[in-house]
Amino acid sequence: MAALGRFLSVEGIDGAGKSTQLAWIAQWLKQHSVAFVQTREPGGTALGEKLRDLLLSEPMHLETETLLMFAGRREHLEQVIKPALARGEWVLCDRFSDASYAYQGGGRGLPREKFIALEEWVQGVAPNKIQPDLTLIFDVPLSVSQERMAGGRTLDRFEREATDFHARVRAAYLERAASEPQRIRVINANRSLEEIQQELAEILSAIL
Ligand code: ADP
Ligand code: TYD
Repeated sequence: MAALGRFLSVEGIDGAGKSTQLAWIAQWLKQHSVAFVQTREPGGTALGEKLRDLLLSEPMHLETETLLMFAGRREHLEQVIKPALARGEWVLCDRFSDASYAYQGGGRGLPREKFIALEEWVQGVAPNKIQPDLTLIFDVPLSVSQERMAGGRTLDRFEREATDFHARVRAAYLERAASEPQRIRVINANRSLEEIQQELAEILSAIL
């Protein structure tokens, strides 16, 4: 049987520098001849991208928002993530379930039990649960993310939220990282690109 690929997800509050580092990680994987699929949530499938458009623009009830995130995830797992891993490829995913905990849970206050139920439904139950082998959370203070976001582009429904929303999202990410230290690595992204990328190269080399 072919070796199973590795599942990597990348997270962080808006403006932490996630997209910049994702592009660098993709480049690193190419340079090291790792076959991988780069994808994102919400999104990653034709249906998921339609859901993404709705999620980023339409006001909706918090539970509707959460259910749509997980509905898109179900489709994404089936159509993209599981097949890639089964082919022995890596999956580099821009956000996954930890984002639901952070945004819908931390940011908007949906109780934790709801996520446990949805995660079990969509990702399965241990030992067959599908979840990232490694999650990198790019962490910066709010003042830094806000400075980095102030680039003039149009902000989506989440990026437009108030500072205290983003502070709760950040706190939820850090709490989740503390509860799963074997899977989640918090990267101090309030450093130069070179310093961050040196740490990333060490982490990636260790799992190659
Ligand atoms: P995100 O995807 O987390 O919203 P981006 O990667 O788009 O963040 O970065 C937001 C802005 O911050 C971009 O202009 C990017 O060039 C800049 N940036 C990203 N990382 C750093 C860094 N370590 N130091 C300085 N600027 C950064
Ligand atoms: P993002 O990847 O940050 O888009 P971009 O970098 O292009 O702006 O993701 C879009 C937003 O979706 C982001 O603000 C976080 C939010 N989100 C949730 O609220 N819950 C989730 O489960 C996921 C996957 C994303």
